[in-house]
Amino acid sequence: MQQQKIIILDFGSQTTQLIGRRVRELDTFCEILPYNKFPHDDDSVIGVILSGSPYSVYDPEAFKVDLSRIRGRLPILGICYGAQYMAHTYGGRVERAESREYGRAHLCTFDRENPLFEGFADNSQVWMSHGDTITALPEGFRTIASTEKVINAAYQAEGEKLWGVQFHPEVFHSLQGSLLLRNFVVGICGSRQDWSPASFVETTVNELKAQLGNDRVILGLSGGVDSSVAAVLLNRAIGDRLTCIFVDHGMLRKNEFRDVMRDYECLGLNVIGVDASEKFFSELAGVTDPERKRKIIGKGFVDVFNAEARKITDAKWLAQGTIYPDRIESLNITGKVIKSHHNVGGLPEEMHLQLCEPLKWLFKDEVRRVGRQLGMPEHLITRHPFPGPGLAVRILGDITPEKVRVLQDADDIFIRGLREWKTVDAEGREQSLYDQVWQAGVVLLPVKSVGVMGDERTYERAVALRAVTSTDAMTADWAHLPYEFMAKVSTDIINHVRGVNRVCYDISSKPPSTIEWE
Ligand code: XMP
Repeated sequence: MQQQKIIILDFGSQTTQLIGRRVRELDTFCEILPYNKFPHDDDSVIGVILSGSPYSVYDPEAFKVDLSRIRGRLPILGICYGAQYMAHTYGGRVERAESREYGRAHLCTFDRENPLFEGFADNSQVWMSHGDTITALPEGFRTIASTEKVINAAYQAEGEKLWGVQFHPEVFHSLQGSLLLRNFVVGICGSRQDWSPASFVETTVNELKAQLGNDRVILGLSGGVDSSVAAVLLNRAIGDRLTCIFVDHGMLRKNEFRDVMRDYECLGLNVIGVDASEKFFSELAGVTDPERKRKIIGKGFVDVFNAEARKITDAKWLAQGTIYPDRIESLNITGKVIKSHHNVGGLPEEMHLQLCEPLKWLFKDEVRRVGRQLGMPEHLITRHPFPGPGLAVRILGDITPEKVRVLQDADDIFIRGLREWKTVDAEGREQSLYDQVWQAGVVLLPVKSVGVMGDERTYERAVALRAVTSTDAMTADWAHLPYEFMAKVSTDIINHVRGVNRVCYDISSKPPSTIEWE
């Protein structure tokens, strides 16, 4: 049976991704596409959502799209700008609001009979965020909900499956927003809600078999969850015709290369492990500038990867663990690159490799669910993100093997401590601190300070512990770890890691700081 999908046309709002998440939470597949890239020949589309936008419909650069081939054929829901754009285009009036409508509001009247509001409570809280407002609806359109200040908070084109809402159902503060999206996606569009990790694995493995035939594929593994899940999925589809390359640049966590290689072998992957640490240490010697360090590692990595990849002379494909947020960020239609992503790049053109990205439609937590579905070990699936340049961006100043050793030992104590320290939440569930934070690590500072050990004066290094909570690494808060835990880690590090006599805790959030120090 064909996979149904909802198309979200992106007009550049910051919450477009969130709409995608909400639809996926309804076990319904969706694709976010630029506002003008609707796939008219795709007959698996069951409904369309128009997102918000940073623009007003009157801005000269506002995004405009011809909906005539969609209207009347598929259900449409316009959100915020999407609603204003349709009202404006079809002959209504949109005007600058006297005061910007921002924040909480309540649907004080709404049409209980309307399928969009099925199950809605009185005075449901919604979240507004717009500078324009719809002051008159086009002919044949009808108001179906109002707030204290906004008369046309929601409308429908009579006798048609076309709705607009000026509030944002996708954000958490619209308390019945998920219900509204369910009413649209399931009730109105008729989603079968059959998008699940199991269906994803089955469909993707079949598609990969068809796409790759008997071709050989190369994949760069990093030890992280995305590339590992991509590898296991490809292995299911084409077995040993997948060759994975895992490069050790010498700045991985303590014993990580060995442990991860073992995991990969247990998973039945065909992996070439390359220890290139000496090359990286010699190229990095004396370099202190953070960007230069990154460049040297990035280039060195590509060189080592290429040298191995070239040996696989019959390879036709390069597979990558690119996931959906990586692509949305780089495809962002307003043209602003928020974060460039860091997969293996720059394979020589003469290799003529085609790109295969089996996870390109998945969000991070969906990748984890797919990993579980594939039977991968939990520690690989719940592994924290780790930067491509590794500990190099956590050693401030120049890098030496000795500093890496000191940092690896301190980091190992911190991470093991986080895994072992369990707390119980209000519902009685036990969870390690490791699983409660998004990411953690230790940073080696370029300062020495005075201490005393036994009767001896010491003059040694300081390290900073970093642990953050986040949902997507775009923003992050420092994790409020228990004091008793920090006391224990500090004592363990100072007692066991030679060369360190002081431990600090980083209490900066992102923004304005970043997660990594370099
Ligand atoms: P920042 O420090 O920008 O990090 O707040 C956001 C997330 O990205 C990771 N990160 C990197 N990942 N190569 C990577 O593969 C890099 O150069 C890099 N720099 C930062 C960081 O660990 C965090 O998860």
